Amino acid sequence: MGLMILKGKDIISIKDFSVDEINEILKVSEDFESVARGEKKLDIMNGKVLALLFFEPSTRTRFSFECAMKRLGGETIGFESVESVSVSKGETLADTVRVMEKYSDALVIRHPKEGSARLAAMFSDKPVINAGDGAGHHPTQTLLDLYTIKREKGRIRGIKVAIVGDLKYGRTVHSLAYALAEMGAEILLVSPVGLEMPLEIKKDIEEINGKISEFHSLEDVIGEADVLYVTRIQRERFPDPEEYLKVKGSYRVDLKLLERGKKGIIVMHPLPRVDEISPEVDSTEYAVYFKQTFYGVPVRMALLSMVLGVM
Ligand code: NCD
Repeated sequence: MGLMILKGKDIISIKDFSVDEINEILKVSEDFESVARGEKKLDIMNGKVLALLFFEPSTRTRFSFECAMKRLGGETIGFESVESVSVSKGETLADTVRVMEKYSDALVIRHPKEGSARLAAMFSDKPVINAGDGAGHHPTQTLLDLYTIKREKGRIRGIKVAIVGDLKYGRTVHSLAYALAEMGAEILLVSPVGLEMPLEIKKDIEEINGKISEFHSLEDVIGEADVLYVTRIQRERFPDPEEYLKVKGSYRVDLKLLERGKKGIIVMHPLPRVDEISPEVDSTEYAVYFKQTFYGVPVRMALLSMVLGVM
């Protein structure tokens, strides 16, 4: 099955995977859906410990890793705020990692600084999985985003995905745009002026001949897109609060807009949402964002079992 390809590997950026590896993870994820739902029992993580190092708030990422591990018979340890651990006494990230790797088989880390996961990996012999490094990357979110598109639209190649919102500070979209390009989707970027996708990422996408175009208005893409991938403005990453106020509330996806969309258009969001999606959308066929959060469990099961070399 080729499941050993990722054994022992650090997962820092989506670029750490080849397209074949991504396809393999998406395939294996499907097998885990019934376990993620609690319908089928599996004990393959018995005796394994996953350390969760969360230096920044999280709901879905942390709990879906936890849920994935526990439903597979494994255990988790960790923290979700720096106040409760020795970081608050001045312990360095390097030392925290050197300690936590002694207590676990793999580490998941979320940290406000870009590059922190890469740094953590240098101090750990155990695999390190990046669960978000500042405005940098969020590769496991991308895997579940790709899985959602594949599950809901049947394929990724040729699908037109409009990525909407804060493309400058949003880490999920940095990883996602690159992966979509690699997988042959077409990318329509929609952001307020000043929050465009960083140049390096656009350059990386051009290098692999990705199809990408940029807009500032939802009106420009609503007739084209198969998927609207909506994100919140990342208030906590703005150096100047005044700048945030200028762009706050730039986009709002509501039924009026979606009714003018392509037949079968779906709305995704990594969550949390603030005001980008009107709640009236939640109970319609367009809304896929809560399903998307569920898909985080089978995808993380697949990834963890490959990285830990079980199965
Ligand atoms: C995102 C994140 O933390 O980058 N959330 C998530 O992991 N699902 C998105 C966000 O915070 O806006």
